[in-house]
Amino acid sequence: MAVSKEQVLAALARVPTPGGAALTEAKVLSDIVVTDGKVFFSITVDAAAVQSWEPVRTAAEAAVRAIPGVQSALVALTAERAAAAAGARGPQPAQAATPPGRPAHPADRVPPGIPGVDAVIAVASGKGGVGKSTTAVNLALGLRDLGLKVGILDADIYGPSLPKLLAIKEKPQTIGGNRLKPISRYGLTVMSIGFLIDEDTPMIWRGPMVMSAITQMLREVEWGKLDVMVVDMPPGTGDAQLTMAQQVPLKGAVIVSTPQDLALIDARRGIAMFKRVNVPVLGLVENMSYFLCPHCGERSDIFGHGGARTEAEHLSVPFLGEVPLHMTIREKSDSGLPVVATEPDGVHARIYRDIAVNVRDQLVTGAGAGRAAPKIVIEA
Ligand SMILES: Nc1ncnc2c1ncn2[C@@H]1O[C@H](COP(=O)(O)OP(=O)(O)OP(=O)(O)O)[C@@H](O)[C@H]1O
Ligand SMILES: [Mg+2]
Repeated sequence: MAVSKEQVLAALARVPTPGGAALTEAKVLSDIVVTDGKVFFSITVDAAAVQSWEPVRTAAEAAVRAIPGVQSALVALTAERAAAAAGARGPQPAQAATPPGRPAHPADRVPPGIPGVDAVIAVASGKGGVGKSTTAVNLALGLRDLGLKVGILDADIYGPSLPKLLAIKEKPQTIGGNRLKPISRYGLTVMSIGFLIDEDTPMIWRGPMVMSAITQMLREVEWGKLDVMVVDMPPGTGDAQLTMAQQVPLKGAVIVSTPQDLALIDARRGIAMFKRVNVPVLGLVENMSYFLCPHCGERSDIFGHGGARTEAEHLSVPFLGEVPLHMTIREKSDSGLPVVATEPDGVHARIYRDIAVNVRDQLVTGAGAGRAAPKIVIEA
């Protein structure tokens, strides 16, 4: 039986708010998305009032879940001043130190960590299609090969890639009604909005919904104990990405770029964005760096290889490595068989593992170490 938006609104009309008005009258609701028996929406309130609204969020979830036909309800509480709102849920945020005499700026606040997760890192780029998702998956597998317990979160809610890149078709199970059990693949703990929505269902995400979905996937999924969570970010450096970078408790960001100048300009924008929100840039990966002919093995620098290394020096960010443009990487990646997992002895797997070593080193002793050092232990 299909659940309608009207049924959801009727249920919410019976939920009272701290001011006494019904939830539907309080002008705090985002658009309500109902898909396949799953209901998502957010309640946006003033940051100072967040605590008193938490019971409303819980009651709203319970009311929606009681509607016949509803399989799950995910309701997020967001605040007008986003950074402050995050502190209202889960453990208190580890605040970055504010130099004396300088007023605290929202960018100085680190959102609360995810219980059990030591380090969250973003894989980002200024521009789309440069190979972020492919890099994120193989980097996660490379970190796994270093003996770390690794999770991967697909934060690209507009175009989730992980269901395809990891050939995942199953839906996550719910635990106790409102928490989701992530999917396991190749030893990675995986979550993507693509597991919850139909690939063919076009979703219209409005501002608060985006944050709500990301918050749910970070905080209402049983990630368990992880040394590193790799977040595959959506492309671009707009407001959505900036907010996301602020909401996710990032230890650092890996920027992926192709060697062409244009992509590098975008990469520069990506770096600037993370710097703006005080997230350390762990380094730059040059993807599609050079072309290795699959027949003769000859190498050609079709995109003008080396741009990212020079650029990294220029911007004083570490250079993490270069990945060739290779048919195997594309074919394997697009058929859900990432090279590091399925050709572990191959040349490409080695390249990604070397990048993983560089990323781990940056987290432990480099750019990421200053931001509440992760508890990653280097094995000799
Ligand atoms: N080193 C590589 N060699 C060959 N093909 C690659 C390489 N890296 C990525 N690709 C291919 O390029 C395409 C885009 O890659 P991917 O989806 O990882 O990019 P993205 O930056 O995440 O894109 P979007 O911005 O859409 O999220 C895919 O078909 C992928 O298989
Ligand atoms: Mg992608």
